[in-house]
Amino acid sequence: MHSMLVTGGAGFIGANFVRLVNATRDEIKVTVLDKLTYAGNRANLAGLEGVEFVHGDIADATLVDELAQKNDVIVHFAAESHNDNSLEDPSPFIQTNLVGTFTLLEAARKHDVRFHHVSTDEVFGDLEIGADTKFTEATPYAPSSPYSASKAGSDHLVRAWVRSFGLRATISNCSNNYGPYQHIEKFIPRQITNIVDGRSPKLYGTGEQVRDWIHVDDHNRAVLDILDKGIIGETYNIGADQPDINNKQVIELICTLMGLDPADGYEHVNDRPGHDQRYAMDATKLKRELGWRPRFTDLRAGLEQTIAWYRDNEEWWRPAKDATEATYAQRGQ
Ligand code: NAD
Ligand code: DAU
Repeated sequence: MHSMLVTGGAGFIGANFVRLVNATRDEIKVTVLDKLTYAGNRANLAGLEGVEFVHGDIADATLVDELAQKNDVIVHFAAESHNDNSLEDPSPFIQTNLVGTFTLLEAARKHDVRFHHVSTDEVFGDLEIGADTKFTEATPYAPSSPYSASKAGSDHLVRAWVRSFGLRATISNCSNNYGPYQHIEKFIPRQITNIVDGRSPKLYGTGEQVRDWIHVDDHNRAVLDILDKGIIGETYNIGADQPDINNKQVIELICTLMGLDPADGYEHVNDRPGHDQRYAMDATKLKRELGWRPRFTDLRAGLEQTIAWYRDNEEWWRPAKDATEATYAQRGQ
């Protein structure tokens, strides 16, 4: 790998990935392609030297073709990523996650570029609360929301391009990420910034739903391992093997860590329609075949680090806070 195109590199996970590559891989020249939607922020890449930034759309075939020609690997993070937004208006999800991925795949096959597709555990649907089942790479797809369905469709496109055209591609499906630079519309940073602001944290419904939290750096180290050692055509599940923890427990932990009494520290708001109940990833294949291990195995410690980052970087999230909360207020959330 000498020249790497990172799509969505100004978003949460993509920016952390670019930072990781920049800090650990001197030999790789990174170019970021990002549309800078509401979720993308140039400031996420501040201070990085040698990273080229291209402001553009992954569905722009001319631009994508030009960039594919100049790079030997594409790591594809760009997406519309928030379930709640997909319930309000699915159209950008179809355009970016499906048409955008298709556009990248066509350019990658034309120029024989190694491709890695970053996807989600949500393609598998959900699991029963309290069960000890987990998603494996063989679990059938059963997405619930327009977001999940668009990601599932994009995974299918990648597999078809591997089989039909011999594209050199891999896929990873990861569980819920947390860490620095995550947009404050998402669960954990929303609650942290609410508490900093003196607003009450907001729990959807009863909060029994379970998510399988992983630190963004562990996700991104797995992506690098797949690029280095993954087998073409294979899919790898990524998850940190955490004990089940539901949203109510997470919000109460955040309250405790930020000095609020969890008993009266938060508010119940409207539930998400079609809310997935439980996610849990089996990452055995990634561990056994590629030797990956999560480093953040203690959610409490990872949350403490994340809370400190949001406290220290108020100027980063402040401009989006009122508008984000106004959108939620319209939905009774
Ligand atoms: P994000 O919403 O924070 O960032 C998405 C980035 O993509 C933004 O910078 C945005 O400007 C850019 N983008 C959107 N549409 C674009 C387009 N048409 N052209 C170019 N750039 C565009 O998302 P994230 O949480 O960082 O997620 C990144 C990827 O990881 C997504 O593919 C998502 O499905 C996947 N994923 C996320 C999680 C998670 O917990 N956040 C877990 C597993 C997988
Ligand atoms: O599982 C991977 C997925 O994780 C990624 O593919 C998505 O891009 C990412 O957004 C995330 O999806 P979720 O829908 O699980 O994440 P979100 O942060 O929106 O919500 C996490 C849980 O918290 C979910 O059960 C809904 C709940 N929630 C969310 C918000 C924003 C609340 O209770 N209150 C809130 O304010």
